[in-house]
Amino acid sequence: MADLTTKIGKLTLKNPVLAASGTFGYGLEYSHYLDLNELGGIVVKGLSLHPRNGNPPPRIMETTGGMLNSIGLQNIGVEAFITEKLPDLRRYDVAVIANIFGNTIEEYAQVARRLSAVEGIAGIEVNISCPNIKAGGIMFGRDPGQAEMLTARVRKATLLPLLVKLTPDAPDISEVARRVQDAGADAISLVNTFVGMAIDVETATPFLSTITGGLSGPAIKPLALRLVWEVARKVTIPVVGMGGIASARDALEFIIAGAHAVQVGTANFINPSICIDIINGIRDYLHAKDIQNLNHVVGSLRIKGNEAASD
Ligand code: FUM
Repeated sequence: MADLTTKIGKLTLKNPVLAASGTFGYGLEYSHYLDLNELGGIVVKGLSLHPRNGNPPPRIMETTGGMLNSIGLQNIGVEAFITEKLPDLRRYDVAVIANIFGNTIEEYAQVARRLSAVEGIAGIEVNISCPNIKAGGIMFGRDPGQAEMLTARVRKATLLPLLVKLTPDAPDISEVARRVQDAGADAISLVNTFVGMAIDVETATPFLSTITGGLSGPAIKPLALRLVWEVARKVTIPVVGMGGIASARDALEFIIAGAHAVQVGTANFINPSICIDIINGIRDYLHAKDIQNLNHVVGSLRIKGNEAASD
């Protein structure tokens, strides 16, 4: 059997397929649909210092090949997560990665520090890319200087493997990735949703209460793939790719483009056990090609002109 393990800093994942934050609850909600132990990891719903109700409805809608959301990072808060969810999650042999955010840099650091003090967290994913909140989120992710400062502060607050989740809506995402790497991140997660909107033509009003929202799903896959390919060549730390992945072949595209791992998001809403299908599909692909180790596929993109040039 091929070796599917992959490394994010000092964290070894048993396979490269993680459930993406915001599409998989706190993990436990999916335990009736699939064996959580089989996943490479679970990135839990974004956690803040205090509970949040999120944005008013309507805050979600289906689009052609995708979904618009403006949830507004509704969550139970870091303390309730630790007392109400983590004890059950700890029963599973799966890497639990906590996605975190705050209104200020200091709040991010506080949440990271709190999670580092408890058993059962394998890593922290810093969300500087949510497009649906007034403070924090994308505000930090669009600006390389802010992204660097925030990452450096969170780095000081935790020894856990640190992933930083970037927005495609930054003027220069590669520069943001480089600065985040320099500030001590162990991996880059990309990309979060693209900012979009929808209008109800009967009433001539925006469909979402916040006017704009984040677009995800298969519609964004080629855009996300291009950004992963671009950023993976500019940083030395692993890239965790995501954006519209709905099959093993989609996941393999991201891995061939340079991702060391992938996250599956919107597809979980259509098929709650899709991550298992994707893991099995990757294993079948490696077997069919007689590849012993997933790492041989990472960044294996062959570009014809380049091959000719090196001959
Ligand atoms: O609105 C939301 O909760 C989305 C979060 C995100 O895209 O990070």
